[in-house]
Amino acid sequence: MQGATAPAHGESDMASDMTAPATMLAQQPDNVPDDRVFDFDIYRDVPEGSDFHASWHELMAQVPHPLMWTPHNGGHWVALRADISDVVMSDSERFSNRTVLVPKDTAGEAYRLIPLSLDPPEHRPFRNLLNENLGPKPLKPIEDSIVDLTVSLIEGFRAKGQCHFVEEFAEQLPVRIFMQIVDLPVDDLPKLKHLADQFTRPDGSLTYPEVSQLFRDYLTPVIAARRGADGQDMISRMVNGQVGGRPLTDLEAQNICIQVLVGGLDTVVNMLGFTFSYLARDHDLRRAIAADPSRIDDALLEFFRRFPVVSSSREVKQDGTFEGVELRAGEMVMAPTVVVALDDAMNDDPLAFRLGRTARKHSTFGKGSHTCPGAHLARIEMKTVLREWFARIPEFRLAKDELLRFSNGIVGSVKPFTLEWDV
Ligand code: HEM
Repeated sequence: MQGATAPAHGESDMASDMTAPATMLAQQPDNVPDDRVFDFDIYRDVPEGSDFHASWHELMAQVPHPLMWTPHNGGHWVALRADISDVVMSDSERFSNRTVLVPKDTAGEAYRLIPLSLDPPEHRPFRNLLNENLGPKPLKPIEDSIVDLTVSLIEGFRAKGQCHFVEEFAEQLPVRIFMQIVDLPVDDLPKLKHLADQFTRPDGSLTYPEVSQLFRDYLTPVIAARRGADGQDMISRMVNGQVGGRPLTDLEAQNICIQVLVGGLDTVVNMLGFTFSYLARDHDLRRAIAADPSRIDDALLEFFRRFPVVSSSREVKQDGTFEGVELRAGEMVMAPTVVVALDDAMNDDPLAFRLGRTARKHSTFGKGSHTCPGAHLARIEMKTVLREWFARIPEFRLAKDELLRFSNGIVGSVKPFTLEWDV
C-alpha cells in the first residue's frame, strides 16, 4: 500500500495492524489521498475484550476525516460521520444500490438481490410487494404466534436457571416466526440460516456464487409450486404479485425471496443478542423495567438507537468531489448505520444507554427509499420478548466468567453467551 498511514492509527480495535496478506489488499488509487488510508476490514472479528459498538465509536474518534479509505475487501471508502452515512445511503442520484456489499467483485456481484440492488424508480413496484406483506395489517394474524412462541421458549428453560441465549432463544424466535410467515418447514432452518449468514458474515465454507446457487436450488421448486396457487404466505403472495402490470420473472421471484430470507433470518437475532447481553450487565435498567413494564416502549426505542448492526455500501455513480475528496464512478462507499447513532453530534453521550432521552437520532433501519420494510415485525417481536421475559425472569446476569465476544461483518453480532438467574 503506497504511503499508507494506517499503521499510525493501529491502536484502534477496528483499524489495527495489517493482518491480511498483502496480495489481498487493493492498490491505492491515485484519487485517494494518503491521509485517508486506514487499515480497516469489516470482516475482521472484534478483538477479544473489546465491544462492537465501542470499537466503532473509537474508530470514529481516531480517524481525523469523515470519509476514510481502506485497501481491504477490494478497496473502498467508509463514511464515519452521521450526515455522510445518511447521504450515501439515501442519495440515489449520486450513490447507486447496484452493488451494496464489499468486496464488490465477489459479495457485491452475488448480492444483486431485489429490491435492495435496484435504484428508483425501478425499485418502487418491487418494494410495494414487500410493504403489502410486512405492514401492521398483514402481520396482525401472526402476533398471537409471536406471544405463544416467546412464552413457550422462555418456559422451556426458566426452571433450569440458565439458557444459552443465542442458540436457545435469539436464534429460535425470529427465525421460526419468519418461517411461518413464508410457510417454509422449520427443519430447513439450519440450512437457510447458514446460507443467509454467508452473505453477511462469511465463514469461508462457501464461495459467494455457491451461496447464491444453493439459495436458487432451494427456492426454484418452492416458487414453482406456489406460482398460480392460492397460498396466502408471503412467498406465494410475492411470486403471484404484479410489478408494473406484469408478473415477476423466475429470476426476479428468486431474487426477492432470497432478499427477504437474508433480511429476515439474521437481523432480529443479532438485535436480541445485543439487547440481552447489555441488559444482563445493566442492573439499574433491569430494575427500572421490572418495576415499571410500561417503560419497555421507551427502552425499545433506546435499544434500536444504541445497537445498530448493519453496514451496507453504495456504488459511486459518476466522478465527482464529495467531502473534500475525488470519488470515481464504480468505487464503493460503505455507509455504516452505527456511525449515525454513535456520532456525538447526533446524540449526547452516544454510548450511554439512557431511558427517557428527549431526542434519539439513528438510521438503524436505514435511510431513504430502502429503509427496512421489516421494521414493524422487528418492533413487535422485540416488544413481545421484553414484555414476556421480564414478566417471567426479571432478574438475570451473564454466566460466571462469561466473556462477551463480537463478530463484525455486514451485520454485526454478539457470539453465543449464557445467561443465568436464581430459581
Ligand atoms: C432489528 C432488525 C432489523 C434491522 C436492524 C434491519 C436493518 C435494515 C437496514 C439498515 C436496511 C437498509 C439497508 C440498505 O439500505 O442498504 C434494511 C433493508 C431491508 N430489510 Fe431490514 N432490518 C431488520 C429486520 C428485518 C426483517 C425482520 C426483515 C424481513 C422480514 C427485513 C427485510 C429487509 C429487506 C427486504 C430490506 C431491503 C429493502 C429495500 O431494498 O427496499 N429486515 N434492513
